[in-house]
Amino acid sequence: MFQPLLVTDRRGGINPRASRTLMRDQSLPNVALIGFMGTGKTLLGRMLAHRWGWRFVDTDALVEQKVGCSVAQIFERFGEEYFRQQETEVLRSLENLHRVVIATGGGVPTRTDNVISLRRHAVIVWLTAQPEVILQRVQPIHTRPKLASAAEPLAEIRRLMSERETAYACADIRLDTSTLSPEEAVERIEELVRGWKPRNLT
Ligand code: S3P
Repeated sequence: MFQPLLVTDRRGGINPRASRTLMRDQSLPNVALIGFMGTGKTLLGRMLAHRWGWRFVDTDALVEQKVGCSVAQIFERFGEEYFRQQETEVLRSLENLHRVVIATGGGVPTRTDNVISLRRHAVIVWLTAQPEVILQRVQPIHTRPKLASAAEPLAEIRRLMSERETAYACADIRLDTSTLSPEEAVERIEELVRGWKPRNLT
């Protein structure tokens, strides 16, 4: 069974080499990052995977590959419902993978089936940030179909975040990335994942 364990260097930071060895533990499930756009899922997911020697996947990128065009084009040509269906199929295809960090699209937890699927095999980490910080991070906004047509993007970010709050709350761990550097956020996520008490994954 996975043992929560912290290996620190002399300054009290986590030693990256030890971190890689510990995260090789086969009994540790995958790690899925959920949360609103601009909270750092893709960047931090990539950094965590690199640090642990795990594989990294991004559900938006997998949907783009599957359909053959960008997320913005999928929304425009086929509509949101079609995009959500592709997203659900992509999530299903990840269920048998191991030692993978999964960055999910911001709307993934709004479908119960997606949450059930992720909870089968992943520790779920909910990344949050202040709406003002998110607005800065999501530029250029035309690449974000859920915000691109909003007359007041900040108000729309607040509205969508509050609408999705309960869906995001399916997570095991929550972290606000507003004031953290990517390196600080990565260390914090690692600490939290290591301290995670295994629940029944099925
Ligand atoms: C969406 C978030 C996007 C992408 C799509 C819809 C959403 O992913 O899946 O534009 O509904 O919040 P990111 O959160 O990775 O930007």
